Amino acid sequence: MESDKSQNRVWDKKQITLGILGLGVVGSGTVRLLMENAAEIERKIGLPIVIKKIAVRNLDKPRDVVVDRALLTNDPCEVIDDPDIDIVCELIGGVEPARGYVLRALKNGKQIVTANKEMIAKEGQSLMEEASRRGLDLQFEGSVAGGIPIIQPMKNALAGNRIEQVMGIINGTTNYILTKMTREGADFGEVLKEAQAHGYAETDPTSDIEGFDAQYKIAILASIAFTCRVPVNEVYCEGITGIAAQDIAYADELGYVIKLLGVAKRTADENRVEVRVHPTLLPKTHPLAFANDVYNAVQVKGSAVGDVVFYGRGAGSGPTGSAVVGDIMDVCRNLRYGATGRISCTCFERRSIVPMDEVITRHYIRMVVKDQPRVMATISKIFGDYEINIASMVQKETFGTETDIIWLMHETPGKSVSGALAIIRDLPIVVEVSNWIRVVD
Ligand SMILES: NC(=O)c1ccc[n+]([C@@H]2O[C@H](COP(=O)([O-])OP(=O)(O)OC[C@H]3O[C@@H](n4cnc5c(N)ncnc54)[C@H](OP(=O)(O)O)[C@@H]3O)[C@@H](O)[C@H]2O)c1
Repeated sequence: MESDKSQNRVWDKKQITLGILGLGVVGSGTVRLLMENAAEIERKIGLPIVIKKIAVRNLDKPRDVVVDRALLTNDPCEVIDDPDIDIVCELIGGVEPARGYVLRALKNGKQIVTANKEMIAKEGQSLMEEASRRGLDLQFEGSVAGGIPIIQPMKNALAGNRIEQVMGIINGTTNYILTKMTREGADFGEVLKEAQAHGYAETDPTSDIEGFDAQYKIAILASIAFTCRVPVNEVYCEGITGIAAQDIAYADELGYVIKLLGVAKRTADENRVEVRVHPTLLPKTHPLAFANDVYNAVQVKGSAVGDVVFYGRGAGSGPTGSAVVGDIMDVCRNLRYGATGRISCTCFERRSIVPMDEVITRHYIRMVVKDQPRVMATISKIFGDYEINIASMVQKETFGTETDIIWLMHETPGKSVSGALAIIRDLPIVVEVSNWIRVVD
């Protein structure tokens, strides 16, 4: 017990009362951890946490955790309007009705813990402002990278740094698919089906494979890193559906792996930042390249600390429950010492997002061309006309009338590459431009 600090205590109740919205994957993990480690959690925060009510949609559904049925309700208002409940933990997901419940709970003076990335990315500003106005906590560690602590470290331990860059593999489903494609030389569609069969991909995998899930998460991380609001709809987003087995094989030959990355980067212009999600060729020796299967990894570059890499399970009941319980305990400590609302919204600045056309990266381009004289010279000239500096070019030995060519380009703005490819695509000697992927070193 933290008895030596008890004179500072402003909390006069004997317990902290929790209400939960949602008892699915994350809700079950949260409740299980709170029950299994109740004694240790109580010793750490100095008070017991008592779960008073859990709202679900279907009262009769079998649950992954044993809870007293009397705790369950299908009326969320029994949680958000209960004057005894101190903390509301929102684990429903999606924007509505979750946002409405959270707002109403804030208006009722409740502290909030959530793992809802979509709600925080799209509606975080108004919710955070409401929490700030009322001096309440709104914590959301579980919303990004599941069990990996990343939001709290950025807001606390790394707060003294100017964050230059945050880059990460922040979607486990796509990392699982890309890892399998790499190991087995398999095609995207084949691996997706297998991932769905094993429960690593949703029945509707759109949010993961099109990059939207990563888009929400990088918008949240960028807002914290650059102390500015990053509107999620302005974040460039490209998923992994266009990645072919050949791209992975060619990347491998060139010393790279392909990962879906969320990238947030400061630019020389203080008023602009880069925030984007796209498949990326990463050198095999890059610290993020080692995150495989469903694992996530996030690299933060701070002005004083340099590079810090966070690695772990980015989703799942236990890992996300771990992040949610950590937030609940933090809120409990704040409640005990009258310090809620201590770290409110940190989006003080206004910065715009650099359009993808202007973002400068290296590039990988794969195309199929006719096997004829002067093909290379013709295409190279067009790249030259757009000031694109070729770093390497590989032509596969031809046994038919067509051949693959793989180009790696030095750093060039996106608009130069799109301009050159628009012309190259129409050349009679070009069968197709098969892929264009950005390269990060
Ligand atoms: N799954 C993960 O690994 C993971 C990782 C990080 C973050 N998250 C985030 O955590 C949140 C929860 O995800 P999840 O995977 O746990 O979802 P889930 O398994 O679908 O669980 C959602 C829960 O919310 C309940 N619910 C839905 N609508 C409701 C309503 N209108 N009123 C009351 N209860 C309602 C459901 O009730 P029934 O059970 O009765 O249907 C269910 O218990 C989401 O924001 C998600 O993005 C998830």
